[in-house]
Amino acid sequence: MKTHKNSILVLIIVFAGSVMLSFITKLDKEMGGPWEVPAKYKAMKNTYKDDASLEKVGKMLYIKHCKSCHGGLGEGDGPKAASMKTGFRSLKSAEFQAQSDGVIYYQSFIGRDEMPNFESKVPEEEDRWAIVNYLRTLK
Ligand code: HEC
Repeated sequence: MKTHKNSILVLIIVFAGSVMLSFITKLDKEMGGPWEVPAKYKAMKNTYKDDASLEKVGKMLYIKHCKSCHGGLGEGDGPKAASMKTGFRSLKSAEFQAQSDGVIYYQSFIGRDEMPNFESKVPEEEDRWAIVNYLRTLK
């Protein structure tokens, strides 16, 4: 009799556990694969790298265009992030920061899938590099 009770208990625990597990996997979004960046962008040089006058501009443009998804510190926790199907990589991470400026430029302004294209919203080269410079300060 006692063993019977125990096996029911075990069944309940296994069932509750699997329900919880499926809930957790749903929250765990699919990450986009590696970015395929055309050679033209990879070879781009950031000629605004040491332009301190762009610091404020970069931050302001990030807050205006990017924060809603990527969050204030680039951790992918902005208010719009929850409605995205794709997961976010932290813009602070060593993995992200190890990429070249040209690759970050491509990801930021050409985009792909749920990462919008910003070529028309940020038309000036100077403003684009100001944002790239700002992303560099997030690490
Ligand atoms: C509507 C939400 C949204 C907005 C607004 C947005 N992004 Fe994104 N961004 C994403 C998503 C989703 C990804 C992941 C896409 C993927 O991996 O396919 C992403 C990826 C990126 C990446 C690549 C990160 C990596 O290593 O995977 C960079 C860089 C980036 N965004 C920069 C920006 C910048 C700069 C802005 C503002 C000009 C911006 N994003 C605005 C949704 C957004």
